[in-house]
Amino acid sequence: MSEETAQLSYAGKSYELPVIKGSEEEIGVDISKLRGQSGLITLDVGFKNTGSTTSDVTFLDGEKGILRYRGYSIEDLCEHSSFSEVAYLLINGELPTSEEFDKFQDDISHHTLVHENIRKIFDGFPADAHPMGVLSSLVTSLTAFHPESLDPNRDPKMVDLTIHRLIAKLPTLASWVFKKKLGHPLNYPENKLGYVENFMKMMFGLPTEEYKIDPVLVEAFDKLLILHADHEQNCSAATVRVVGSSQASLYVAIAAGINALWGPLHGGANQAVIEMLEDIHANGGDVDQYIAKAKDPNDPFRLMGFGHRVYKNFDPRAKIIKKHADAVLDKLGIEDPLLEIAKGLEEKALQDEYFQKRKLYPNVDFYSGIIYKAMGFPTEMFTVLFALGRLPGWIAQWKESRNLNQPISRPRQIYTGSPARPYPTK
Ligand code: CMC
Repeated sequence: MSEETAQLSYAGKSYELPVIKGSEEEIGVDISKLRGQSGLITLDVGFKNTGSTTSDVTFLDGEKGILRYRGYSIEDLCEHSSFSEVAYLLINGELPTSEEFDKFQDDISHHTLVHENIRKIFDGFPADAHPMGVLSSLVTSLTAFHPESLDPNRDPKMVDLTIHRLIAKLPTLASWVFKKKLGHPLNYPENKLGYVENFMKMMFGLPTEEYKIDPVLVEAFDKLLILHADHEQNCSAATVRVVGSSQASLYVAIAAGINALWGPLHGGANQAVIEMLEDIHANGGDVDQYIAKAKDPNDPFRLMGFGHRVYKNFDPRAKIIKKHADAVLDKLGIEDPLLEIAKGLEEKALQDEYFQKRKLYPNVDFYSGIIYKAMGFPTEMFTVLFALGRLPGWIAQWKESRNLNQPISRPRQIYTGSPARPYPTK
């Protein structure tokens, strides 16, 4: 807390409010005691200007286009670290020593199997169910098979075990969803493989053929996971913290995060972008027509993969992904007309006054789908891939909230309904 205070005047009275300064000079006014002192609450629908917590995990500057995990830039992390190291960093606060990293990988690789009875639950889902709904249901069902997770306050070792299980089992569950859609047999994990290699093999391997892991794809996918690993108090991370604040199990807090991510305005945008690009392609590739629709206040259509609540400049993740999209398609020898449409759309939108005035730039989802598609992932799986990357961030946010002993999240409201009225009697 700083020495400074802010003043709020209302109805002839003045209230002094503490000012909180962050390590990057961000300033917040602490209104937590305001209602007690004055009877006033603050109103901020959609939390556009509300800080829900202080946090040591991730820093982002939306004006400058900066994103750092635990102080390290995503550019440096992408260049020097693997996703598993970044997961360790986010969850534990520091990069691991080589011994710590070996132990972390070992802990995770021993929990990749999922209880065979969860498979019976899984069997009940229709093959065309959306993967995100199946994934969140299966993550919730883990509570039934690991009931020691139900009390997150019981034993820190149990919490660690739940964290390892989540990181280990999510790729296995994600691969099940994909395989069922194809009607292929499910693959078991192979613990001697790295995190991404194992996932790729479970996804694309068949019992009938040897699966050759392509290091180019592994490298690109690993980077994509790093870029998605955390994004401070976004919709799903905030959801994880809110659910965690009721002291529910970490599994259900993560399942809630998966559900929040599913929406097209959040992680579901990566699926929506490809659907939009395919639509443009099918309609002759006229990007101007779609830009006009996005600008029309009477048309609900939005340019998917554009705009961000926090970034009012290039999303730094999009910059890195765009480079990788070119490289991956090049290496795979794929010519995807959707990439050309995406580039054309970006160019036109960035020159358009509507987008310039509102500071709408391509976000992380704009190019990621093109890479996922080139790698062979079907569109409906894209948001699952986002969830896989975001998992360590959710865990880090949950853990921080628990360590800070934060109270249950319970916002106030301004009631605008009917005043008390008599019950109609005949
Ligand atoms: N296309 C056209 N107009 C847009 C778009 C867009 N993609 N995004 C925002 N606007 C306009 C919006 O209509 C509004 O205009 P006006 O001031 O004339 O009413 C103005 O820009 C501000 O928009 P907003 O909806 O008030 O901004 P927000 O901060 O509430 O919404 C957003 C942020 C990401 C939900 C929004 O930009 C959007 O819907 N984008 C498309 C979906 C998308 O790509 N989501 C992925 C976000 S990045 C991944 C993640 O972290 O979740």
